[in-house]
Amino acid sequence: MTDLVVHDASQVATPTDDSELVVIEDGAVAIDDGVVTAVGPTEEVTRDHPPENATDAVDATGKTVLPGFVDPHTHAVFAGDRADEFSAKLDGADYQDILAEGGGILRTVRATRDASRTRLVENLLAQFDVMLAHGTTTVEVKSGYGLDAETEVKMLEAIDEAAGRHPIDVVPTFMGAHAVPEDTSADEYVDRVVDEQVPVVAENDLAEFCDVFCEEGVFSVEQSRRVLEAGTEHGLKPKIHADEFERLGGAQLAADVGATSADHLLQSTEADVEALGDAGVTPVLLPGTAFTLATDYADASAFEAADVPVAIATDFNPNCYSQSMEFAIDLACNGMRMTPASAVRSATVTAANAIDRTDGTGTLREGALGDLVVADVPDYEHLPYNFGVQNVQTVVKRGEVVRR
Ligand code: NIG
Ligand code: FE
Repeated sequence: MTDLVVHDASQVATPTDDSELVVIEDGAVAIDDGVVTAVGPTEEVTRDHPPENATDAVDATGKTVLPGFVDPHTHAVFAGDRADEFSAKLDGADYQDILAEGGGILRTVRATRDASRTRLVENLLAQFDVMLAHGTTTVEVKSGYGLDAETEVKMLEAIDEAAGRHPIDVVPTFMGAHAVPEDTSADEYVDRVVDEQVPVVAENDLAEFCDVFCEEGVFSVEQSRRVLEAGTEHGLKPKIHADEFERLGGAQLAADVGATSADHLLQSTEADVEALGDAGVTPVLLPGTAFTLATDYADASAFEAADVPVAIATDFNPNCYSQSMEFAIDLACNGMRMTPASAVRSATVTAANAIDRTDGTGTLREGALGDLVVADVPDYEHLPYNFGVQNVQTVVKRGEVVRR
């Protein structure tokens, strides 16, 4: 008996790889043991998997079925928020000035150091609920509001505990090098990250990736290289916040060290795009950050022209307070001028590449993870066309309906 059949969808739209979006009119998906067993026209799928015989069924008449969204870049575990800084920024304050004055990331660091692990777990679970409601079935979460070994470990343990209590699949990233703490210099702090934090994170198997904020006034290219190389030595795969405000050379460093992804890339040049493409680094664009900071968006068309597929992510954090991949898709189209087909691929299969999930996560094909969303739109184009609302209705994680 089949575990779940989703049938009579006006469309099943799924990328098969980075270059194609396959659309099946009047489509259906069958899932068994958490894995997709059939995708195709309803008539064909239901012949082998009749809904009336399945353990569970979803009638998706008039709706669109897509793979579950993958959010490959968030800073979702923290305490407090910074709504007042949001107002100050609208009043003309600058993100980097706020950080230089001990606000911004450093303020969230103080609140997160003061918070218990239990509080962080509760906060994160609440964020996961919102993410899931907007279709995210796999999410990457970074540490980086501790800036000391004890709090970085507390954050990563909180991520692990929340992951165990929520249907969303969670990929943990260590980001001790997220900012320079107030009591020290960048060089001295990089010593601490490399000598104390990376080893304890790796020994306790608390993260899969190691990330660094390579930016003017934060960590230089050389400092970032030290952090990423220390991570690699300890089995943590490199990721990097690159070329967000200044073109410091983060994208080139990502190519050099063979990073899994390079993220932000607002200042990247054609040469950077090419270097990333040649090195097989997945670029991750974060339109929500540009939207809330009212800066220019990353140049998605430059990647498209070079045939380098990009991922998109929410970058959910106290500075960019949106958990919604639906909204990221809206902005990819309405802001960065990506086509709906590109945006869907960027939010699914390419986003999975950005966190090294190349096992079919982000696609609906036989053998892939049984993660999907049913959106109350007649076709995938309507997703960003009808922007700013919750189109996602039903969410299926590993073959189980986790939202109806
Ligand atoms: O990706 N740029 C650095 N890190 C985050 C912001 C974190 C924060 O402001 O709390 C980002 O945008
Ligand atoms: Fe970030």
